[in-house]
Amino acid sequence: MNDMIAELKKELTSLIEAANDLESLENARVNALGKKGKITAQMKTLGSLDPEARKETGQALNALKDEIAELIARQEKDLKKQALDEQLATETLDISLSARPESKGKIHPISQTMEELVTIFADMGFAVAEGPDIEDDWHNFTALNFPPGHPAREMQDTFFLPDDPDEDGEMAHKLLRTHTSAVQIRHMLNNKPPHRIIVMGRTYRSDYDMTHTPMFHQIEGLVIDKNIHMGHLKGCLLDFAKAFFEVDDLPMRLRPSFFPFTEPSAEVDIGCSRKDGGLKIGAGDDWMEILGCGMVHPNVLKNCGLDPDEYQGFAFGMGIERLAMLKYGVPDLRTFFESDTRWLDHYGFDAADRPNRAFK
Ligand code: DAH
Repeated sequence: MNDMIAELKKELTSLIEAANDLESLENARVNALGKKGKITAQMKTLGSLDPEARKETGQALNALKDEIAELIARQEKDLKKQALDEQLATETLDISLSARPESKGKIHPISQTMEELVTIFADMGFAVAEGPDIEDDWHNFTALNFPPGHPAREMQDTFFLPDDPDEDGEMAHKLLRTHTSAVQIRHMLNNKPPHRIIVMGRTYRSDYDMTHTPMFHQIEGLVIDKNIHMGHLKGCLLDFAKAFFEVDDLPMRLRPSFFPFTEPSAEVDIGCSRKDGGLKIGAGDDWMEILGCGMVHPNVLKNCGLDPDEYQGFAFGMGIERLAMLKYGVPDLRTFFESDTRWLDHYGFDAADRPNRAFK
């Protein structure tokens, strides 16, 4: 009997060692340990042996079974490693190859415009602040002096999300921020005055036509200090507009308007002329609206823990796509987000282009 087991061991071992891929190894396993395998078959004969021989042969067969299983596992590991080595050797990537000239990338006009905006406002001493795209009703509306049920909440075509806990663990009405003004609140709550910041980022409203997309970008400005007045606001915006549109002779006017978070509020127009369907920014016979602004409402200051008798300031907000469309003559807002590489080839910028400096 022992000879038979030794013979079986030799046969199965050589079969397993000869397996040079995972499939033949699996065949060898079935041949040895499967339901109809050789070891299994021997196990079945144990019943016909006398008790002494049954015990001895049974132990020997069990030991063989374990040995063979271990051998198979080792062989499987080796084969897998070998397969991986072969794969790694054939899948090399030559990273020293130069890029194909025909697939040169371009900077998207939104990225370019944002770079320009940062450059201009950084020159005026503004820092950049950020906030989340997923906001809560309090930061987006309530703290900005929109009373509950105020029609302006609906005017903004808000995308509402299911209620969820805010950072303090309190349940909150969540939404996609409809404007970057929400970051004014976050900044004032988390920092000490004076404040001089811009905020740039994505904003969301349920709207879609030639001049509206559900996602678009805004830039927000906020200046808070002692003794800030509307003259500072106008001066700041005039310097900005001249630098951004690269026009020295640029008339600007403030028209009374309404926003819940500013008092007084204004919309800002710059001079332009329209001839033969073309638009030219600069002194001319027409006006073009570019942004909304105002003096920060005392209620907003109070909501952020500031005393309106001590601190005042101004804020403004603009659409970044609109600024890019005016400066670079892009006619349809929707094309910004269609990911058409021909469009990007035409309207995009070379990576080496430097954004214009505000004050040369
Ligand atoms: N949040 C306004 C909007 O999305 C834009 C705006 C207007 C922002 C006046 C301001 C501001 O900071 O003072 O339509």
